[in-house]
Amino acid sequence: MVAFPEVDTITIRDALHDATRRLMTAGIPQPQLDARLLLAHAMNAPGERFYGREDAPMPLEPRAAFEAAVLRRLNREPVSRVLGSRGFWSLEFELNEATLDPRPDSETLIEAVLDHIEPREAPIRVLDLGTGTGCLLLSVLSEFPRARGTGVDIAPDCVAIARRNAKANDLEDRASFQVGNWDDDLGAIFDVILCNPPYIPTSVVPTLEPEVAVHDPPRALDGGADGLDCYRDLASRFNRILAENGHIFLEIGHDQRSDVSTIMAASGLRNLSTRADLAGHDRCLVLKGG
Ligand SMILES: C[S@@+](CC[C@H](N)C(=O)[O-])C[C@H]1O[C@@H](n2cnc3c(N)ncnc32)[C@H](O)[C@@H]1O
Repeated sequence: MVAFPEVDTITIRDALHDATRRLMTAGIPQPQLDARLLLAHAMNAPGERFYGREDAPMPLEPRAAFEAAVLRRLNREPVSRVLGSRGFWSLEFELNEATLDPRPDSETLIEAVLDHIEPREAPIRVLDLGTGTGCLLLSVLSEFPRARGTGVDIAPDCVAIARRNAKANDLEDRASFQVGNWDDDLGAIFDVILCNPPYIPTSVVPTLEPEVAVHDPPRALDGGADGLDCYRDLASRFNRILAENGHIFLEIGHDQRSDVSTIMAASGLRNLSTRADLAGHDRCLVLKGG
């Protein structure tokens, strides 16, 4: 007869080992790290990674929460969604089912803003179209202490979470958010326009990793048959909301620079520069008016 250990004798190491093995068997890319992050979450100890503490007994109380978290990850839900938040730039952003899980690639837009806009004390007016969690707008506001901004999203649940993120990051005095179809309800002009629109071709969405295809909202991903629908819609809108000498920072798919530049040029917007992400892919077009 096999002697199973008493439940009470399970250590942190046992719990981590079991979760890591199950995650690895399911093909999860970073099983050890994910197991540690999920256990820290279940134990309500966000910064803990348990190095040097593996021999401590696993407390009884968080076991059910840890198992539930592991099952969600086995279902290919990203760790950030299980944890309910994601670090982006220097800030932390709460997520919900309506928001895209912010991507490190999108930090390229913030780097491009810092390259082109000075001084930091400039009282710039910033617009973020398709704000999601508010990550682009709030990150720029955190770098420009006198800037003010507006974030717009068509999804009311994004706007609700973006407001919470502004408050949690002490930026609510300079940030406002509203529900709307792009700039339809704005009637104002802006010095800096940030936009990361949906740009994945419809047929490609189901082929993406389940973390994206299943758990990111389709409205945040699907850019129509060729991925370019939103750019066509936005090009004619940018001119009426861009201040004289204003800049647009537009996220693009890695192979879309030429197509999007052509669409923008047809509306009189010229491509000032292109910034690549850390993988070397074209990620951000910097545009100016004619
Ligand atoms: C790719 S996500 C970007 C979210 C966030 N800015 C980021 O970078 O993580 C695109 C966002 O655009 C929003 N969106 C899609 N169509 C829209 C529209 N017609 N008007 C306003 N927002 C829209 C989606 O709800 C989604 O939040």
